[in-house]
Amino acid sequence: MSETAGPSVLEVEGLRSGYHGVTVLKGLDFCVGPEIFAVLGANGAGKTTLLATLARLIPLMAGTIRFQGEDVSALPPYDTAGRGVGYVPQEKGVFPDLTVLENLSVGGMIGRRSRDERMAEVLALFPDLRALQAQPAGTLSGGESRMVACGRALMQDPRVLLLDEPTAGLSPLYVDMFFDKIREIHETRGVAIVLAEQNATKALQVADRVMVLSLGQAYAVVDAAELTTQQLKEGYRI
Ligand SMILES: Nc1ncnc2c1ncn2[C@@H]1O[C@H](COP(=O)(O)OP(=O)(O)O)[C@@H](O)[C@H]1O
Ligand SMILES: [Mg+2]
Repeated sequence: MSETAGPSVLEVEGLRSGYHGVTVLKGLDFCVGPEIFAVLGANGAGKTTLLATLARLIPLMAGTIRFQGEDVSALPPYDTAGRGVGYVPQEKGVFPDLTVLENLSVGGMIGRRSRDERMAEVLALFPDLRALQAQPAGTLSGGESRMVACGRALMQDPRVLLLDEPTAGLSPLYVDMFFDKIREIHETRGVAIVLAEQNATKALQVADRVMVLSLGQAYAVVDAAELTTQQLKEGYRI
Protein backbone atom coordinates (compact mmCIF):
# COMPACT_ATOMS: atom_id res chain seq x y z
CA MET A 1 0.00 0.00 0.00
CA SER A 2 1.37 3.48 -0.82
CA GLU A 3 2.05 5.96 1.94
CA THR A 4 0.51 9.41 2.28
CA ALA A 5 2.76 12.41 1.61
CA GLY A 6 2.01 14.03 4.98
CA PRO A 7 0.13 13.49 8.24
CA SER A 8 -3.07 11.52 7.78
CA VAL A 9 -6.32 13.45 7.75
CA LEU A 10 -8.37 10.26 7.59
CA GLU A 11 -7.31 6.80 8.77
CA VAL A 12 -9.64 3.94 7.95
CA GLU A 13 -9.15 0.46 9.40
CA GLY A 14 -11.16 -2.70 8.77
CA LEU A 15 -14.14 -0.66 7.60
CA ARG A 16 -17.29 -2.64 6.92
CA SER A 17 -20.64 -1.05 6.16
CA GLY A 18 -23.75 -1.51 4.08
CA TYR A 19 -27.52 -1.52 4.25
CA HIS A 20 -29.99 -3.56 6.31
CA GLY A 21 -27.49 -6.25 7.16
CA VAL A 22 -26.13 -6.48 3.59
CA THR A 23 -22.39 -5.85 3.67
CA VAL A 24 -21.24 -3.61 0.80
CA LEU A 25 -17.78 -2.52 2.02
CA LYS A 26 -15.95 -5.67 3.04
CA GLY A 27 -13.06 -4.45 5.17
CA LEU A 28 -11.22 -1.39 3.85
CA ASP A 29 -7.87 -0.12 5.12
CA PHE A 30 -6.47 3.15 3.82
CA CYS A 31 -5.24 6.60 4.85
CA VAL A 32 -5.83 9.99 3.27
CA GLY A 33 -3.16 12.64 3.72
CA PRO A 34 -3.18 16.32 2.69
CA GLU A 35 -3.84 15.28 -0.92
CA ILE A 36 -6.39 14.50 -3.59
CA PHE A 37 -7.35 10.87 -3.04
CA ALA A 38 -9.43 9.35 -5.83
CA VAL A 39 -11.80 6.44 -5.24
CA LEU A 40 -12.35 4.74 -8.57
CA GLY A 41 -14.57 1.82 -9.42
CA ALA A 42 -17.36 0.60 -11.63
CA ASN A 43 -21.01 1.34 -10.97
CA GLY A 44 -22.02 -0.52 -7.79
CA ALA A 45 -18.46 -0.90 -6.49
CA GLY A 46 -19.34 0.93 -3.25
CA LYS A 47 -18.01 4.46 -3.83
CA THR A 48 -21.17 6.21 -2.64
CA THR A 49 -21.48 3.84 0.31
CA LEU A 50 -17.89 4.66 1.30
CA LEU A 51 -18.32 8.44 1.13
CA ALA A 52 -21.65 8.31 3.00
CA THR A 53 -19.98 6.14 5.66
CA LEU A 54 -17.08 8.58 5.99
CA ALA A 55 -19.64 11.40 6.32
CA ARG A 56 -21.24 9.28 9.09
CA LEU A 57 -24.59 8.96 7.32
CA ILE A 58 -24.34 5.16 7.29
CA PRO A 59 -23.38 3.28 10.48
CA LEU A 60 -20.26 1.12 10.54
CA MET A 61 -20.66 -2.65 10.87
CA ALA A 62 -17.01 -2.98 11.92
CA GLY A 63 -13.75 -1.07 11.89
CA THR A 64 -12.77 2.48 12.72
CA ILE A 65 -12.59 5.89 11.07
CA ARG A 66 -10.16 8.39 12.55
CA PHE A 67 -10.32 12.02 11.49
CA GLN A 68 -7.29 14.13 12.41
CA GLY A 69 -6.34 11.45 14.93
CA GLU A 70 -9.73 11.28 16.64
CA ASP A 71 -12.01 8.23 16.45
CA VAL A 72 -15.21 9.49 14.78
CA SER A 73 -16.65 6.03 14.01
CA ALA A 74 -19.76 6.56 16.13
CA LEU A 75 -20.29 10.31 15.76
CA PRO A 76 -23.44 11.66 14.08
CA PRO A 77 -23.01 13.61 10.80
CA TYR A 78 -23.53 17.06 12.33
CA ASP A 79 -20.64 16.40 14.69
CA THR A 80 -18.26 15.35 11.93
CA ALA A 81 -19.39 18.32 9.79
CA GLY A 82 -18.63 20.63 12.70
CA ARG A 83 -15.18 19.09 13.06
CA GLY A 84 -14.38 19.69 9.39
CA VAL A 85 -15.73 16.88 7.22
CA GLY A 86 -17.45 18.45 4.19
CA TYR A 87 -19.69 16.17 2.12
CA VAL A 88 -21.11 16.76 -1.36
CA PRO A 89 -23.45 13.86 -2.15
CA GLN A 90 -23.90 12.38 -5.63
CA GLU A 91 -27.45 13.67 -5.78
CA LYS A 92 -29.69 16.09 -3.91
CA GLY A 93 -26.88 18.32 -2.75
CA VAL A 94 -29.06 21.45 -2.54
CA PHE A 95 -32.27 22.57 -0.81
CA PRO A 96 -34.46 23.21 -3.90
CA ASP A 97 -36.84 25.71 -2.24
CA LEU A 98 -34.06 27.86 -0.78
CA THR A 99 -32.26 30.43 -2.89
CA VAL A 100 -28.62 30.01 -3.86
CA LEU A 101 -27.63 32.53 -1.19
CA GLU A 102 -29.70 30.74 1.46
CA ASN A 103 -28.19 27.38 0.48
CA LEU A 104 -24.70 28.78 0.90
CA SER A 105 -25.64 30.46 4.20
CA VAL A 106 -26.77 27.12 5.65
CA GLY A 107 -23.19 25.86 5.23
CA GLY A 108 -21.92 29.02 6.92
CA MET A 109 -23.72 28.19 10.17
CA ILE A 110 -20.77 25.91 10.98
CA GLY A 111 -17.31 27.32 11.60
CA ARG A 112 -15.71 30.32 13.20
CA ARG A 113 -14.73 32.72 10.41
CA SER A 114 -17.21 35.38 9.36
CA ARG A 115 -19.91 34.17 7.01
CA ASP A 116 -19.42 37.17 4.69
CA GLU A 117 -15.75 36.40 4.28
CA ARG A 118 -16.44 32.78 3.40
CA MET A 119 -19.30 33.74 1.08
CA ALA A 120 -16.98 36.11 -0.80
CA GLU A 121 -14.46 33.27 -1.24
CA VAL A 122 -17.08 30.86 -2.57
CA LEU A 123 -18.41 33.46 -5.02
CA ALA A 124 -14.86 34.16 -6.16
CA LEU A 125 -14.33 30.45 -6.74
CA PHE A 126 -17.65 30.05 -8.59
CA PRO A 127 -18.33 33.49 -10.14
CA ASP A 128 -21.28 32.09 -12.13
CA LEU A 129 -23.21 31.93 -8.85
CA ARG A 130 -23.13 35.70 -8.37
CA ALA A 131 -25.94 36.35 -10.82
CA LEU A 132 -27.98 33.44 -9.44
CA GLN A 133 -27.91 34.38 -5.75
CA ALA A 134 -31.63 35.14 -5.45
CA GLN A 135 -32.76 32.17 -7.55
CA PRO A 136 -34.32 29.07 -5.95
CA ALA A 137 -31.75 26.25 -6.17
CA GLY A 138 -34.41 23.92 -7.59
CA THR A 139 -34.47 25.96 -10.82
CA LEU A 140 -30.73 25.61 -11.52
CA SER A 141 -29.06 23.47 -14.18
CA GLY A 142 -27.16 20.35 -13.11
CA GLY A 143 -23.79 22.12 -13.28
CA GLU A 144 -25.04 25.16 -11.38
CA SER A 145 -26.52 23.09 -8.57
CA ARG A 146 -23.25 21.12 -8.25
CA MET A 147 -21.47 24.45 -7.75
CA VAL A 148 -23.96 25.40 -5.03
CA ALA A 149 -23.61 22.01 -3.29
CA CYS A 150 -19.84 22.29 -3.41
CA GLY A 151 -19.95 25.93 -2.29
CA ARG A 152 -22.18 25.03 0.65
CA ALA A 153 -19.71 22.38 1.82
CA LEU A 154 -16.84 24.88 1.46
CA MET A 155 -18.76 27.40 3.58
CA GLN A 156 -18.14 24.98 6.48
CA ASP A 157 -14.36 25.52 6.17
CA PRO A 158 -13.76 21.76 5.87
CA ARG A 159 -10.41 20.04 6.45
CA VAL A 160 -11.48 17.24 4.13
CA LEU A 161 -13.99 17.45 1.30
CA LEU A 162 -15.81 14.28 0.21
CA LEU A 163 -16.94 14.69 -3.41
CA ASP A 164 -19.19 11.98 -4.85
CA GLU A 165 -18.99 11.96 -8.66
CA PRO A 166 -19.17 15.76 -8.89
CA THR A 167 -19.17 15.76 -12.70
CA ALA A 168 -21.52 12.84 -13.44
CA GLY A 169 -24.00 13.82 -16.12
CA LEU A 170 -22.48 17.25 -16.76
CA SER A 171 -21.55 18.63 -20.17
CA PRO A 172 -17.84 18.34 -21.14
CA LEU A 173 -17.31 22.07 -20.57
CA TYR A 174 -18.51 21.80 -16.99
CA VAL A 175 -16.52 18.60 -16.43
CA ASP A 176 -13.23 20.33 -17.30
CA MET A 177 -14.15 23.41 -15.25
CA PHE A 178 -15.02 21.28 -12.23
CA PHE A 179 -11.78 19.31 -12.28
CA ASP A 180 -9.86 22.60 -12.47
CA LYS A 181 -11.85 23.85 -9.45
CA ILE A 182 -11.12 20.68 -7.48
CA ARG A 183 -7.42 21.23 -7.97
CA GLU A 184 -7.78 24.94 -7.13
CA ILE A 185 -9.72 24.18 -3.93
CA HIS A 186 -7.04 21.72 -2.86
CA GLU A 187 -4.11 23.98 -3.70
CA THR A 188 -5.40 27.33 -2.43
CA ARG A 189 -7.27 26.15 0.67
CA GLY A 190 -5.14 23.16 1.65
CA VAL A 191 -8.24 20.97 1.87
CA ALA A 192 -7.75 17.20 1.55
CA ILE A 193 -10.11 15.79 -1.07
CA VAL A 194 -11.67 12.35 -1.41
CA LEU A 195 -13.00 12.17 -4.94
CA ALA A 196 -15.28 9.30 -5.95
CA GLU A 197 -15.22 8.92 -9.72
CA GLN A 198 -16.13 6.54 -12.51
CA ASN A 199 -14.18 8.74 -14.94
CA ALA A 200 -10.73 7.28 -14.27
CA THR A 201 -8.93 9.33 -16.93
CA LYS A 202 -10.06 12.67 -15.51
CA ALA A 203 -9.60 11.64 -11.89
CA LEU A 204 -6.06 10.41 -12.50
CA GLN A 205 -5.15 13.81 -13.95
CA VAL A 206 -5.83 15.54 -10.61
CA ALA A 207 -5.30 12.78 -8.01
CA ASP A 208 -2.16 12.21 -5.95
CA ARG A 209 -3.18 8.70 -4.90
CA VAL A 210 -5.93 6.38 -5.90
CA MET A 211 -7.92 3.47 -4.53
CA VAL A 212 -9.65 1.16 -6.97
CA LEU A 213 -12.74 -0.32 -5.35
CA SER A 214 -13.99 -3.59 -6.69
CA LEU A 215 -17.16 -5.11 -5.24
CA GLY A 216 -16.57 -3.40 -1.90
CA GLN A 217 -12.91 -4.32 -1.60
CA ALA A 218 -9.80 -2.24 -2.22
CA TYR A 219 -8.29 -3.76 -5.32
CA ALA A 220 -5.34 -1.34 -5.23
CA VAL A 221 -4.21 1.70 -3.22
CA VAL A 222 -1.34 3.33 -5.14
CA ASP A 223 0.16 6.62 -6.29
CA ALA A 224 -1.94 7.87 -9.20
CA ALA A 225 1.12 7.91 -11.47
CA GLU A 226 1.82 4.26 -10.70
CA LEU A 227 -1.61 2.82 -11.44
CA THR A 228 -1.31 0.48 -14.40
CA THR A 229 -3.90 -0.04 -17.11
CA GLN A 230 -3.95 -3.69 -16.07
CA GLN A 231 -4.83 -2.79 -12.45
CA LEU A 232 -7.53 -0.45 -13.66
CA LYS A 233 -9.05 -3.04 -15.98
CA GLU A 234 -8.99 -5.78 -13.38
CA GLY A 235 -10.37 -3.43 -10.72
CA TYR A 236 -13.22 -2.45 -13.02
CA ARG A 237 -13.69 -6.11 -14.06
CA ILE A 238 -13.37 -5.24 -17.74
N1 LIG B 1 -29.91 2.39 -0.01
C1 LIG B 1 -29.44 1.16 -0.37
N2 LIG B 1 -30.01 0.04 0.10
C2 LIG B 1 -29.52 -1.20 -0.22
N3 LIG B 1 -28.47 -1.39 -1.05
C3 LIG B 1 -27.88 -0.30 -1.56
C4 LIG B 1 -28.32 1.03 -1.25
N4 LIG B 1 -27.52 1.92 -1.92
C5 LIG B 1 -26.63 1.16 -2.60
N5 LIG B 1 -26.84 -0.15 -2.39
C6 LIG B 1 -26.04 -1.25 -2.97
O1 LIG B 1 -24.70 -1.11 -2.53
C7 LIG B 1 -23.79 -1.47 -3.56
C8 LIG B 1 -22.81 -0.31 -3.77
O2 LIG B 1 -23.53 0.83 -4.27
P1 LIG B 1 -22.89 2.27 -4.32
O3 LIG B 1 -22.17 2.53 -3.06
O4 LIG B 1 -23.96 3.22 -4.72
O5 LIG B 1 -21.82 2.08 -5.51
P2 LIG B 1 -21.18 3.18 -6.49
O6 LIG B 1 -21.35 4.52 -5.88
O7 LIG B 1 -19.76 2.73 -6.61
O8 LIG B 1 -21.90 3.04 -7.79
C9 LIG B 1 -24.62 -1.81 -4.78
O9 LIG B 1 -24.73 -3.20 -4.87
C10 LIG B 1 -25.95 -1.18 -4.48
O10 LIG B 1 -26.99 -1.91 -5.08
MG1 LIG C 1 -22.15 6.26 -6.53
